[in-house]
Amino acid sequence: MEKTLILLKPDAVKRRLIGQILTRFENKGLRIAGMKLMHMDEALAARHYQDHKERPFYPGLVKFMTSSPLVALALEGPNAIEVSRKLMGATFGFKADPGTIRGDFGISNQYNLVHGSDGPEAAERELGLFFPEGTGILDWSTADADLHLCD
Ligand code: RTP
Ligand code: MG
Repeated sequence: MEKTLILLKPDAVKRRLIGQILTRFENKGLRIAGMKLMHMDEALAARHYQDHKERPFYPGLVKFMTSSPLVALALEGPNAIEVSRKLMGATFGFKADPGTIRGDFGISNQYNLVHGSDGPEAAERELGLFFPEGTGILDWSTADADLHLCD
């Protein structure tokens, strides 16, 4: 079992797409271990996007991510990081395949609806930012948990 941090970005929330996007992750079989609607402030954005600090798109990205509320999710399942990234699709909406979240709901580079941790180290670090010391992460079982075995 693996956990990943998923953000439904401000564009997803403003476009009233929370339900439709969350359904994609739930349908796949990922368990919602944590979920909160929150307004990201500049300090949190700086920590979350620390690796992008020198990139030309960084100022615009921080402005966008702090512009209105987002939904932070801790999702759990077998290979949750890779599975989530596949469901999300390529970074830019115009390149993302149909059938993926970004491929089906947008065409923008920046306003691409979702964030997903890109590896185990990033997931651990990012989950710690949004759910400090595990606060808000709940341990419970889905009804079909025994069908999620990887064999
Ligand atoms: P994310 O971190 O949001 O899951 O997306 P990602 O790994 O696919 O993309 P990443 O390279 O980490 O970039 C983070 C976010 O920055 C915005 N971006 N804009 N205008 C641009 O050229 C550009 N490049 C990246 C996107 O919102 C991207 O998700
Ligand atoms: Mg990334």
